[in-house]
Amino acid sequence: MAGALQAYTQAENAAFAATYDPQEPRNKVTVVLGAQWGDEGKGKVVDLLAMDADIVCRCQGGNNAGHTVVVDSVEYDFHLLPSGVLNKKAVSFIGNGVVIHLPGLFDEAEKNLQKGKGLQGWEERLKISDRAHIVFNFHQAVDGIQEQQRQQQEGKNLGTTKKGIGPAYSSKAARNGLRVCDLVSDFKVFEEKFRMLADHFLTMYPKLNVDIDGELKQLKDYTERLRPLVTDGVYFMHKALNGPSKKILVEGANAALLDIDFGTYPFVTSSNCTVGGVCTGLGVPPSYVGRVYGVVKAYTTRVGVGAFPTEQDNETGDLLQSRGREIGVTTGRRRRCGWLDLILVRYAHMVNGFSAIALTKLDILDTLPEIKVGVAYKVDGKPLPSFPANMDVLTRVSVDYQTFPGWCCSTEDARSFKDLPSQAQNYIQFIEDFLQVPVKWVGVGKSRESMIKRF
Ligand code: GDP
Ligand code: IMO
Ligand code: MG
Repeated sequence: MAGALQAYTQAENAAFAATYDPQEPRNKVTVVLGAQWGDEGKGKVVDLLAMDADIVCRCQGGNNAGHTVVVDSVEYDFHLLPSGVLNKKAVSFIGNGVVIHLPGLFDEAEKNLQKGKGLQGWEERLKISDRAHIVFNFHQAVDGIQEQQRQQQEGKNLGTTKKGIGPAYSSKAARNGLRVCDLVSDFKVFEEKFRMLADHFLTMYPKLNVDIDGELKQLKDYTERLRPLVTDGVYFMHKALNGPSKKILVEGANAALLDIDFGTYPFVTSSNCTVGGVCTGLGVPPSYVGRVYGVVKAYTTRVGVGAFPTEQDNETGDLLQSRGREIGVTTGRRRRCGWLDLILVRYAHMVNGFSAIALTKLDILDTLPEIKVGVAYKVDGKPLPSFPANMDVLTRVSVDYQTFPGWCCSTEDARSFKDLPSQAQNYIQFIEDFLQVPVKWVGVGKSRESMIKRF
């Protein structure tokens, strides 16, 4: 025990030794995860829960994520920074499972600083794991080339965000990636490894257009700014979990159906966006995972390519897209829209074990006379017993829908469940019954106030 805690002071070690009980975690983490294909409104839910949090963490993904948070009519966009960074009393933490593009991180902070006061002093309240991998500009360029090649060779690409996420996680898995700890150590050693990694990609992609010297200079400039933020993430989390009472939140990026293992492979991202990513991406033992909240949009959206059984490529889809302002925060792409797919959300629940659900964007359904929910898949007229692994099968499914009468009035001013029209209440209750998970929050607008808390 003493050896494991050697980075602590003697007094801290004594305090831990006195209280440490592996069977009885001191502080558990509360986790917020996307239950569909992303953009469910995780940022908003995290912001709400972060108002009294002590630590808010990101555990996976990179700046492929785009989380919008509206506070005092100011719309902040976060990609790498945890949305809880708006809480000036909380520490924000970027864990080892995240891949960080440093120019992206500093640009994002700068842009949000211009928007409002929320980001002031962000550098003083951000910690970054020394084990997090770095996304380089050439990873982003390679992402673009790989997409072009897929298009040329297979006639379609994945529709990635071109933020270098796949190539950076590939470097991590190939064990030639570079981490934050490499950058803040001896720069000469870092430079050598950086040039080797760049050469590796140049050999694979001779057309790669990269300014190696320019990027090295840029990275050197960032190093001094980065150094004070860097911490040993394992010790940071251990201290947080076992020290005095603390509220710790984890903000998932991307979502269950984009998970590299459980998502609609290969049309997925390159990290684990389900609950396992919390443990591996932060160094949190499983017994310290507390509540896991799934964020579910009241309909379904998807950005990029891939099967989408409940997609409405028609007037309904257009209406959801325009009323829901379904435009990607990261890439500005129009999101594909369709009905709520409960087969898919139930599958996400099977993997994540949601304690409760935050149902967002109910207000977007306000004008629809009829609302449908996907409740079963069939292939060749036969019911499918489970969510299929094979994308050829998912592309061919036909969906059985349950149809609900719409409420055709505004829910935007509702502040409690009983303020909602009975049709909307029935819709929510059906979701709960189907999933056997309580709906704890209902979103009826963009702002913090427009989130109904039921219990
Ligand atoms: P995330 O990636 O899961 O954090 O979600 P995004 O921020 O990419 O997309 C969700 C969008 O919906 C954002 O523009 C939010 O401001 C907005 N939003 C979240 N909840 C609600 C809601 O209940 N109603 C409405 N109208 N908008 C919402
Ligand atoms: P948030 O956190 C929606 C999608 C991309 C693409 C696929 C792979 O805002 O919910 P990548 O760049 O990760 O290699 O792209 O994954 N994708 C997202 N779609 N919301 C996201 O994040 C996404 N992150 C990745 O559109 O189809
Ligand atoms: Mg998003």
